Amino acid sequence: MDTPYTFDLNNPDFIPDRYDNHIRRTLTAMRGQYLDTAAFEAMLAADDQLLYEVYEFHRPHEPGELLHGISIVHPGKVGDEYFMTKGHFHTVLDTSEVYYCLKGEGYMVMETPEGDWAAAELRPGKALYVLPRWAHRSVNTGAGDLVTLFVYPGNAGHDYGTIEQQGFRKLVVERDGRPEIVDNPRWGSKQ
Ligand SMILES: [Fe+2]
Repeated sequence: MDTPYTFDLNNPDFIPDRYDNHIRRTLTAMRGQYLDTAAFEAMLAADDQLLYEVYEFHRPHEPGELLHGISIVHPGKVGDEYFMTKGHFHTVLDTSEVYYCLKGEGYMVMETPEGDWAAAELRPGKALYVLPRWAHRSVNTGAGDLVTLFVYPGNAGHDYGTIEQQGFRKLVVERDGRPEIVDNPRWGSKQ
């Protein structure tokens, strides 16, 4: 596309009325990421459930561009752990990202290679700035879809491998019917 464009994010689903790419991640894509591996295998054997979807616009992967789209994490849990995205560092570590929550409830769980971590609540109307160097993962703690708009630099790239190897330092699990952020006992080990 060589002219500026708009797109509509219509209630209640917020699926853009036009997009170039639709990514669907099922349980299979999350192997090794959930703490309760027995619950994961049992769920996978029953149904390779759809966990989250991303609608993207194709723009050149260049520093002057802003890549953007919509992320939808569906509700559910593997064991006690809520449905979530794979999570990633940016390949160019010193690049940031903005998220704007359109629907649902959850957390953005974040951490740096230096050992800092943070969890930001996501609610409709909340905007979040993910600083450079911070890995990020969306977690849906609600009963419906968690929908966010994201914007990040065109040259950022995605490093999924580091998280696949070491996981996130913190997990978001249900305790007594409520979300709680707990240490990941397997962090740093081969997942
Ligand atoms: Fe990102």
